[in-house]
Amino acid sequence: MLPPIRSQMNSTKITPEILIQMKARGEKIPALTAYDYPQTKLLDETGVPFLLVGDSLGMVVLGYPDTTLVTMADMEHHVRAAARAQPRALLAADLPFQSYENVADALTNARRLMTAGAEAVKAEGGRNILPQVRALVVAGIPFCGHLGMLPQSVRLEGGYHIKGRAEAEKQALLADAQALAEAGAFAIVLELVTPPVAAELTRALLIPTIGIGSGPDCDGQILVTPDLLGTFPWFTPRFVKPRLNGAEQMRTAIAGWMAALQAPPVP
Ligand code: KIV
Repeated sequence: MLPPIRSQMNSTKITPEILIQMKARGEKIPALTAYDYPQTKLLDETGVPFLLVGDSLGMVVLGYPDTTLVTMADMEHHVRAAARAQPRALLAADLPFQSYENVADALTNARRLMTAGAEAVKAEGGRNILPQVRALVVAGIPFCGHLGMLPQSVRLEGGYHIKGRAEAEKQALLADAQALAEAGAFAIVLELVTPPVAAELTRALLIPTIGIGSGPDCDGQILVTPDLLGTFPWFTPRFVKPRLNGAEQMRTAIAGWMAALQAPPVP
């Protein structure tokens, strides 16, 4: 008999505070992206405690070349769909490119995502967005940081570059992480940060670090779900080992169905 799925064993709603307690207990935090109702429901049934409606949806769902074309309307549409699954997991959503340039925009757009069903928001940046982070936290909107390689800056930086190799970069990451934690962030995603620097940031903070391509020593790990399941086979980041060849399985299933449909009738 299959073991019961974890969400049936423990129905406690996951809050930002629970993720902080998981870090304190030394419990690893798995996190995945979710973009719609069935995906959110399925992921939640596995017991993943942290789900993110990431602006990666621009690439893996909407077919944009990068995340800079994702709009607030795109995010609201997908947050609404994911939230209809009423997950036990904490459901966070990305503030998209240029939606949090100042405090007023950050508050207005974070409120739109929360009204759509998000339970927390994430934005890219450190000390440069501190007034926005403070205002969100004061307004009661749980905030998750995102440091290291910042996908929304891809056009500015001319590509996706690993962060933390130079001493100055490492010091900047440490200062940004401390500032976000002091401003009230409940977690920080570290994307493409060198593993030793990610480990040092993780030790320095009381709030969890959630790594992506940043080595094994973060408090949690987040992946773009289609990368893990092999359902976006046209690009897989080097640090991901897909657990399923979803695209191949779909192709095989569909080809089998077509062949059966088109097979000449047996006389
Ligand atoms: O948009 C996204 O999916 C993300 C994750 C890569 C952390 O920000």
